[in-house]
Amino acid sequence: MSEPTWKIVSKIGEIASDDVACVEIDGVKIAVVRTTDNQVFAIDSQCSHGRASLTDGYVDGLEIECPKHNGRFNVVTGEAVASPARMPLQTYPCRITGECVEIYY
Ligand code: FES
Repeated sequence: MSEPTWKIVSKIGEIASDDVACVEIDGVKIAVVRTTDNQVFAIDSQCSHGRASLTDGYVDGLEIECPKHNGRFNVVTGEAVASPARMPLQTYPCRITGECVEIYY
């Protein structure tokens, strides 16, 4: 794996407010969450409880809910905040630069 750098992964206009989009870097699927106040966060898309993709989940403030068993994760820290999810997920620095969304990966 190469040294981490800021990588453009999307245009901000491609991610609806209070929604999530899936991006892939080096084969890793990452859920990019855009909040209603235009912040962006990046968290591993694969739920730590099972085989569901958080990209198909539901954004609720700074949390994302897994569509399969309703486990929830904090998108800032990756912490599992509602069972049955218990193991945290990896998060990545994420920012908006102009019209672009970038992840430090
Ligand atoms: S697969 Fe996500 S909570 Fe079970």
